Amino acid sequence: MPKVIAIDGAASSGKSTVSKFLSKKYNSPLLHSGLLYRKISVLAIQNGINIKSKKELLKCIHEIEKANYKNDELYSNKVSLLSSKIATKKYVRDSLIHLQREFPKKYGKGKRFVIIEGRDIGTVVFPKADYKFFFWASADIRAKRRYEQLIKNGEKVGFKGIYRDIIHRDKADLNRKVAPLKPAVNSLLIDTSFLSISAVLKIIERNILIR
Ligand code: C5P
Repeated sequence: MPKVIAIDGAASSGKSTVSKFLSKKYNSPLLHSGLLYRKISVLAIQNGINIKSKKELLKCIHEIEKANYKNDELYSNKVSLLSSKIATKKYVRDSLIHLQREFPKKYGKGKRFVIIEGRDIGTVVFPKADYKFFFWASADIRAKRRYEQLIKNGEKVGFKGIYRDIIHRDKADLNRKVAPLKPAVNSLLIDTSFLSISAVLKIIERNILIR
């Protein structure tokens, strides 16, 4: 079985970028678990679903396995905010656990590592992951990263609003009752505020290559 690398952390803390580099360098399958929550949100928006209705939302959840993930809307600000709302619901999280746990078995055959990135990977989904990292960065720096990404994607947004949204998502992720965002007991904390991507990669490699 491949070794599981769990990378959790706050929105725009660099998890996704660093995971992509790692995945490429070590030819390791990568699951961005946030995409599952994002896809449910896109489906809910497209189908005009009331997210308070468990029955209707479950229908979207059943669709995500065969859904197409190549969709620009996935990273829009609207979808980011709705995903963090949907992610507070226990039945939503429960119904995604199996899919995430199957990932290494399904895609990791013959591989050295699989990388799973999210908020609760080291704490809930893979509590026995071989390596656990927890990313953070100042809200100001994360908002700047997010703002630049959205502008690049052609969204009309202002920095102040993005900063507010980052704080709002942090609060939702950190304070929810089910699987809140927090470092796993045996994780390595990395503050990416003033680190380059290659510096973060070096820290991770120093850990995953020595044991
Ligand atoms: O990582 P990303 O920003 O794409 O995730 C979208 C949203 O999904 C997050 O704001 C978070 O609330 C939720 N999420 C989660 N647990 C995960 C991954 C994402 O609650 N493992």
